[in-house]
Amino acid sequence: MEELEAPQLRTTATASFVGISAAPVSLASIDQEPAVLLPTGVDEFDRVLSGGLARGSVTLLGGEPGIGKSTLVLQICEAVARQGGRCLVATGEESVEQVAQRARRLNLQADAVQLMATGDVDTLLAAAETLKPKLLIVDSVQTMRLERVNSAAGSVTQVRECAAALTEYAKARNVATVLVGHVTKDGTLAGPRVLEHIVDTVIEFEGERHQSLRFLRAQKHRFGATDEVGVLDMTATGLVSIADASGIFLEDRKSNVAGSAIVPVLNGRRSMLVEVQSLVVGEGMGRRVSQGLDNNRLMMTLATLTKHKGLKVSNADVYATVLGGLRVSDPAIDLGLIASLYSSHKGIPIPDDIVVMGEVGLAGEIRKVGQMKKRLTEAARLGFSRAIVPSNAQDIPHGIEVIRASTIDDVVALVFPSTTSKRRAS
Ligand code: TYD
Ligand code: MG
Repeated sequence: MEELEAPQLRTTATASFVGISAAPVSLASIDQEPAVLLPTGVDEFDRVLSGGLARGSVTLLGGEPGIGKSTLVLQICEAVARQGGRCLVATGEESVEQVAQRARRLNLQADAVQLMATGDVDTLLAAAETLKPKLLIVDSVQTMRLERVNSAAGSVTQVRECAAALTEYAKARNVATVLVGHVTKDGTLAGPRVLEHIVDTVIEFEGERHQSLRFLRAQKHRFGATDEVGVLDMTATGLVSIADASGIFLEDRKSNVAGSAIVPVLNGRRSMLVEVQSLVVGEGMGRRVSQGLDNNRLMMTLATLTKHKGLKVSNADVYATVLGGLRVSDPAIDLGLIASLYSSHKGIPIPDDIVVMGEVGLAGEIRKVGQMKKRLTEAARLGFSRAIVPSNAQDIPHGIEVIRASTIDDVVALVFPSTTSKRRAS
């Protein structure tokens, strides 16, 4: 692949491109055409984008270093190129050789992908003027600079001005544009946060670095809903879309293990079955460690178990994790926590064919959660035959037996009958 020679044409962020009208027009006179979408060829990316990248739109793809942003954008380029669309990738981070090497690893062959290693926005836009790409990728926005802006690359001012110039170009020339942006764990780095209001769409790319599953979430989307989640697997030869996430999450599950509970959680518009594992270690330092869920949820469920089931864990170290690297915010996970914590503490496994779901209140009551039908259908599809659900759950599908529980006591009696009868006998 060759590096593009920058033509003489100079463009700056202040130059106005045709297509943006500054004169007032009547609202009624504006044609309301639906956005023309460019499918990206990566199914799960298209899912969060509600179909594809809108022409003339600017999408910010944010994520921590090493998560797979450069890999994803390269795969998208090739897919678009294969459909006959010309793509321009500007990289300010890597040499063209490095990008070409990645493309080889991904087994990509696309003559229509043009690469240039530059951090200069004017050079990049001049090249775009000549090439007229359908898709423009900028990797990353933090490495770009505009000469007229007197500030270092990566500074808030540069990042904002570069994004504004690129956005103006995207709108004027109707080019779908993707800006890659680095985010640190706390999300505060100059970049994505300051750009949210400039771009049309913000997609977060996340996952546990040492696991292969990756998740795409729309934080903002001008052309569709933001409630979808894309699931991808980072393999040795690139990112693979995962339509059946539950299957992957439960793949390595061992049966008959104390401390493991299966919960159908809502993730975007899909329900996915996840495994919650807890470990309650007797005489410890009173540590509370959680992964994939809010630590406050762990502490609250522990407190309710202590209060309502007399669990004595003040000195115990307690660990709770959602396997697979998914971050769960669905309150239905509470019941999974309760069951897995109790199971680990007592050393009694939860029967293999049971899923649990429900929010747990501080009074020990089990509260209703939404979308029961989706959750239970997914559980039945994966072969589970029984579900512990909140007592007032509605919209129950066929194919799975539901067992209603209104308190933690009910849950324990249903899932761990042996512990309850012993308690009663003593
Ligand atoms: P990269 O796309 O460079 O991440 P980012 O641009 O977000 O910093 O990819 C990061 C990691 O992904 C890298 O450590 C190697 C790994 N990887 C794979 O596992 N398989 C692949 O096919 C590729 C290209 C990368
Ligand atoms: Mg990169």
